Amino acid sequence: MVKKRILLFVALACSTLITASADEGMWLPNLIGRQIDDMKAKGFHLSAEDIYSINQASLKDAVVLFGRGCTGELVSPEGLLFTNHHCGYEYIQSHSSLEHDYLTDGFWAMNRSEELPNPGLTVSFLVCMDDVTDSVLKGVNDKMDEIKRKQKIDANIERVKERALKEYKGQKGYEASVESLYYGNQYFLFIFRKYSDVRLVAAPPSSIGKFGGDTDNWMWPRHTGDFSVFRIYADPNNQPADYSPENVPYQPKKYFTLSTDGIGEGEFTFVYGCPGATREYVVSDYVDYVLESNPNKIRMRTERLDIMNAAMEADPEVRIKYSSKAAYIANAWKKWQGESLGLERLGTLDKKRAYEERFEVWTADHPEYAGVLDRLQNAYDTKREASIAADFYMEGVFAIELIQLARDLATGIVAGRMPDVKVFYKNYDEAIDRKVACALVNEFVKNVSPEFTPVDFAAELEKFGGVDGYVDYIFDNSAFTSEAGLDNLMAGREGKELEEALWNDPAMEFYGMFADVYLDKIAPVIAASDKVLQREYRTYMRGQMAFEPERNFYPDANLTLRVAYGSVEGYEPEDGVWHKPFTTLEGIIAKDNPEIYDYDVPEALRQCHAEKDYGRWAVNMGTEENPVYTVPVAFLATNHTTGGNSGSPVLNGDGELVGINFDRTWLSTMSDLEFDPAMCRNISVDIRYVLFVIDRIGGAGYLFDEMSFN
Ligand code: ARG
Ligand code: GLU
Repeated sequence: MVKKRILLFVALACSTLITASADEGMWLPNLIGRQIDDMKAKGFHLSAEDIYSINQASLKDAVVLFGRGCTGELVSPEGLLFTNHHCGYEYIQSHSSLEHDYLTDGFWAMNRSEELPNPGLTVSFLVCMDDVTDSVLKGVNDKMDEIKRKQKIDANIERVKERALKEYKGQKGYEASVESLYYGNQYFLFIFRKYSDVRLVAAPPSSIGKFGGDTDNWMWPRHTGDFSVFRIYADPNNQPADYSPENVPYQPKKYFTLSTDGIGEGEFTFVYGCPGATREYVVSDYVDYVLESNPNKIRMRTERLDIMNAAMEADPEVRIKYSSKAAYIANAWKKWQGESLGLERLGTLDKKRAYEERFEVWTADHPEYAGVLDRLQNAYDTKREASIAADFYMEGVFAIELIQLARDLATGIVAGRMPDVKVFYKNYDEAIDRKVACALVNEFVKNVSPEFTPVDFAAELEKFGGVDGYVDYIFDNSAFTSEAGLDNLMAGREGKELEEALWNDPAMEFYGMFADVYLDKIAPVIAASDKVLQREYRTYMRGQMAFEPERNFYPDANLTLRVAYGSVEGYEPEDGVWHKPFTTLEGIIAKDNPEIYDYDVPEALRQCHAEKDYGRWAVNMGTEENPVYTVPVAFLATNHTTGGNSGSPVLNGDGELVGINFDRTWLSTMSDLEFDPAMCRNISVDIRYVLFVIDRIGGAGYLFDEMSFN
């Protein structure tokens, strides 16, 4: 074991000498020194200490994990923060109603007292990070079975966290987490400081912040002003505190200077944020599974979206209720389509298989890795059918809203605390859900083998004359379809009696019947395989590092802070087509169509354009001989990003803010599995457009007083 660990260490150390291909890679900020020469050669002008330091304020102190899975950046000494419109969306939506429709009209606090609190929303700053592999793996050896090993590691992790937090004793908001990197070959400790009073300051109307909607989502050319503005509040001593009117704007250690010059084609840029999950080092069997699973999941979401979109178009009230849900469903739906296309275009499956063949040959001289590929393949084979069936549970019957509520109630019974159903009913439309239920139950019937189907299900279908009859029976008789119905059912009941009444509800019976099969026949098969995968990937990862000592490995994304760097570049999506790296206001006007909700440009923007009245925001996007004065809107770059990087600061070589990351192009989305330097581009909203909108559409230019510009 000791020897292997040393080998691994040597592999890691050696890898620092050689850079990865093109702009692939999401690098750990505290190890960024290994990349700094490459970054400098490409146009970075600061030092590694400027990116991450524990001795002085550094750029990391201006970056936060925003909410559950986005990034945000500080842009003023008074806690002002930028993130994406889609990251703020659920909060903007929660303050919206037909009277105050901030989604449609936008929201601009005109002074601090108008800023809106958001219960449940938190932001976390990274205080420091450290390699704690030795402490976490203390007393662990390769002969241990996985359960013992995990127990030991968990205990060690608890100790590491406890010890680390001692230093911050008595101070509010500190949290520690230990994350595994390279499939358990390394462990890093992260200390965060979490702030929980975060208020909404500004959001453009959706016709800017979500311009192009789901049609343009994941696409280029793109014209979305995907930003929103929040402010972090702290207690009078600048310490984290829950919402209180006595709280004051938080004073950050560091905030970004905004570059009013913006950025140009070919220039260096880096993204500092929290990418969520990538799987760059998996075997071909996983890719094969993704290629089978994606089409099933896509089809089920298409059916749900068709139903929701039709209802939303017909009724503005339904639109408010379902806009956030539909956007959420549509996002991964479209991403999976791009991912499958990209994987097929790249031939990722065949490339992985060829790589594995070479690896296999190499193991003849490296017996410690012999057989690992077979064992991985076996584990995937064992769970394959269960995994595919699981899609028809997770994206199928369990995606019916009424059944999600039943699941929450069932969980509530067990936990002894009933869920808060207010938000559920605020956004619920029974007619939509009933149609969705018919579609999803039909999918289940058509695609899931008897092995993974509840025994009583067929009899139920027969009793009610098929899927539609059965779904109608549930929706006609369940008390859960309305808040009054549920209240009525729960009123005056407690404990066992309440439990029984709930479980007698047809929606709950449906949930119970499917949950039983899922928990008995599907989850255990998947869990058993996953345990094997965990162990074998640890070996395979180490094996890949030894097999390719020249390659500059970076750990898969896991929502920890990373730096990705590259430059502003266009790309060739197909033969003969070149996508330029910038879009402008001219393109917004070209897409203008008042008939289509997603392309209905706000009147104020039309006006600006008609009068060519861009004031100080006019930029020459043409040439010197043929100037075209307009406002840049979005740009492409070669930074390696993924979900979670939304809202991340996009910075120039001097560490100044030039954009806010919000997307990738469609043909990039396979970069979670294989990065293609020719094709992969992240999409950012240009900071010049953000400022233009704040000033000219929001009339909130007063916010500039607290920012600093270059
Ligand atoms: N594709 C971006 C991301 O993955 C933006 C999603 C929000 N926008 C939308 N139209 N659904 O999160
Ligand atoms: N929009 C994504 C997010 O919410 C980022 C796009 C991507 O997956 O790269 O994080």
